[in-house]
Amino acid sequence: MLITLADYERAAAESLDVGVQAYYFGGAADEVTLGDNEAAWRRLAIHPRMLVGVSQRDMGVKLLGRERKHPVIVAPTALHGLADPAEGEIATARAAAATESIVCISTFATKGVRSVAEAVPEASRWFQLYVFNDRGVSRELVARAEESGYDVLVVTVDLPVRGARERELRTPISSELAHAPATMTPAEFKALIDAELRWSDIEQFAAETKLPVVVKGILTPQDARLAAASGARGVVVSNHGGRQLDSTVSGADALPAVVDAVGEQIDVIVDGGIRRGTDVLKALALGARAVMVGRPVLWGLAVAGSDGAKHVLEILLSELDAALALAGAPRATELDRSFVGPAPWA
Ligand code: FNR
Ligand code: LAC
Repeated sequence: MLITLADYERAAAESLDVGVQAYYFGGAADEVTLGDNEAAWRRLAIHPRMLVGVSQRDMGVKLLGRERKHPVIVAPTALHGLADPAEGEIATARAAAATESIVCISTFATKGVRSVAEAVPEASRWFQLYVFNDRGVSRELVARAEESGYDVLVVTVDLPVRGARERELRTPISSELAHAPATMTPAEFKALIDAELRWSDIEQFAAETKLPVVVKGILTPQDARLAAASGARGVVVSNHGGRQLDSTVSGADALPAVVDAVGEQIDVIVDGGIRRGTDVLKALALGARAVMVGRPVLWGLAVAGSDGAKHVLEILLSELDAALALAGAPRATELDRSFVGPAPWA
């Protein structure tokens, strides 16, 4: 039975090719951070309030100046074609549109930004940019996203080089399944992504594009302040799903200091290990405006294409709705730090 995100995880593990599984599921090195991303949310206990009247509930949040129905964003993840060969990111965008979720399309998508926009114009689409050595390529990608009605430019800054993906080394994706970016050697990757990227580049992207810029991959208040000073309208507190530097702090643990540093000026989003509605509630209580969800959407896609991804998002949203009712916070925007504390069991 598929009633939780963990059920989808198990079902996806059974159905995916072993190489694809290693790519989707894996983290860097000893996967300490990968494991802690989920554990960190479990180390927080909820302090619920009673008798506040919760029959009318509202998951709505304000994000980058716009009202959104709820705080769940589909994280940018590469190569959805490995889970849904026919439709790839188009299937994901359909699932996002059906659940009024924002979908962030990766630079390494298996469908182009234009084809996603044409197939699912009703989806709220963000575009995630990896900045290449050849800035002309990056500018072209940004221009295409602008022309195709993407709302936000998410610049990912935590992948100057690839993390040590040891599962991928042990179990490579078989060549007949491999799509271009997954087939890249670390050397080719290095040649493409600009390891010299600096804050001045973020300033330049923010000045050149008409889209609001969000910097993804921030884990310290210092960098969050630099992002705000460089013209970013938001940051994603993220360790890239534990796939880059192992032993980094989790999003959950890094979040409060980032919110304290820049939460009044720019929007703070968090990701990593969000698997339950209660995780979303905790993130909002700590001051995040929204959360990104990565792997669970891929599991949904792998199990049942667009319908699976949609069901994963529906499960998470229905859990969040129930959590708001049971925690006595019928409006998501009313959550604050009084609703969470260190867990006595942790
Ligand atoms: C990612 N992530 C990612 N991030 C990004 O900015 N651009 C990308 O192309 C990718 N690609 C990618 C592929 C796969 C298979 C995974 C699992 C992740 C990171 C992603 O956006 C997000 O930060 C994490 O996935 C969040 O953690 P959870 O929800 O997967 O635990
Ligand atoms: C990954 C890159 C593509 O995490 O972001 O695999």
